[in-house]
Amino acid sequence: MQTKLVNKKLSDVKADITVEFLTADEVSSHELATLLSQAGFKGKEDQICFLYEKEILLCGLEDRSADNLRAAATLAVRTLKNANYKSAKTQIKAEKTFSALVEGFVLGEYAFNDYKSENTKTALTTISFSVEELDHKKLKNIFEETIIIAKATCFTRDLVNTAPQELNPKTLSEIAEKLAKDNGLTCNVLDEKGLKKEKMNAMLAVGRASVHESHLIHISYKPKNPKKIISLVGKGLTYDSGGLSLKAATSMVSMKMDKAGACAVLGMLKAVSELRLDIEIHGFIGAVENMIGGNAYKPDDILVSRSGTTIEVRNTDAEGRLVLADVLDYAQDKVKADYIFDFATLTGACMVALGPYTTGIMGHSTVLKHKISFAASSSGELVGSLPFNKHLVKLLKSEIADISNVSSKPYGGAITAGLFLDKFIKDENKEKWMHFDIAGSAYSESAWDCNSYGATGAGVRMISNFLQNIK
Ligand code: BES
Ligand code: ZN
Ligand code: ZN
Repeated sequence: MQTKLVNKKLSDVKADITVEFLTADEVSSHELATLLSQAGFKGKEDQICFLYEKEILLCGLEDRSADNLRAAATLAVRTLKNANYKSAKTQIKAEKTFSALVEGFVLGEYAFNDYKSENTKTALTTISFSVEELDHKKLKNIFEETIIIAKATCFTRDLVNTAPQELNPKTLSEIAEKLAKDNGLTCNVLDEKGLKKEKMNAMLAVGRASVHESHLIHISYKPKNPKKIISLVGKGLTYDSGGLSLKAATSMVSMKMDKAGACAVLGMLKAVSELRLDIEIHGFIGAVENMIGGNAYKPDDILVSRSGTTIEVRNTDAEGRLVLADVLDYAQDKVKADYIFDFATLTGACMVALGPYTTGIMGHSTVLKHKISFAASSSGELVGSLPFNKHLVKLLKSEIADISNVSSKPYGGAITAGLFLDKFIKDENKEKWMHFDIAGSAYSESAWDCNSYGATGAGVRMISNFLQNIK
């Protein structure tokens, strides 16, 4: 689907159908008020009404907030996809909510059909946004940036949705290398020989029973004279069976999404390089498959991580933190960054704490948490801060090693996982680091907001927004 910004009056834009967004108040003063009343259209949220003969599609709105417009645009485009119109148009009424509206159309239209054999093509090819009364030049910039970020979000969704027999550590490296080539980035991959040299034994243990070698991907965007340097670390479990602490059959389904942190990092690099931001970005991805086998790592194993910290394995399903421990340590040694963010589908507990749609954010800097929360809400993503405390740290104590990979109590699992990672953050980086648990927000088996079935691309919009506004 093509999206166009047109500097013309709505009535002068050619299209098969006009999409109008109306609140309840606006319905009563509409020129077609009588017709709308007959059709039962009240301008309520999620309400949709086709006036076929007038070539109008009406969408209800609770209010004109960015979040509601984004969701309404999603519903509109999904409705259009079920009809047979080739082109649609809509009027842009406010600069502030413009980006959300465009996003709703692009993200809402997304569907992952790679494995469907029937023809999934729809008639709709173009959506035009008419901006006659507003500053066209300014909106053009916003429009282009919005499309870049929305497409990067869809790129991440595509990767996460790809089946695990196709997307493994090696093919993920190839995807990163292709992205680097296409977008003028640099990309270095360590295979298991390289990981051994780096003493990344925690990461290596997790991937040992897989037929696919584990890979560490380092992909960077380096503009001239960057004003900041950022490291983005991603959990790239291309499959998480749980290992010997095997997941139950129903919990294993959808664990291809355990690579969502890694895929989000790639989406962020795609967005930042296409936005040409003057910030140096380093993506570090631990690409690993957690499987079972005679050589699998075991509960009771003691791993000597890259930092030298010894880890008692008490559950092989708490593997993401083992991979991240080594990758975070590596990232901190290789790049002196102003911020270090990690993204991981780390714990089911995060969903218990915050619900299935919200990313859990954890870290030591209150200021940074506020900045991230602001970027998230401006971009339409949900975040909730989960607080560290020193009592929870004690739950990770091991009798036999420096730390246990699971907590001794069954509550607060998202925070204790965050605190495990904290053990691998160097003192000088404590205030620069933030952990994002995207276990719930990255994937859903039912559509919500502007997200369809499957991957959401969580993280890409909020971090792009954060980086666009960084001082
Ligand atoms: N990848 C999972 C976390 C997860 C669960 C993500 C559900 C998305 C949906 C992670 O590796 C895991 O299995 N974590 C365990 C930790 C536990 C063993 C301490 C969990 O959450 O149950
Ligand atoms: Zn796991
Ligand atoms: Zn996992």
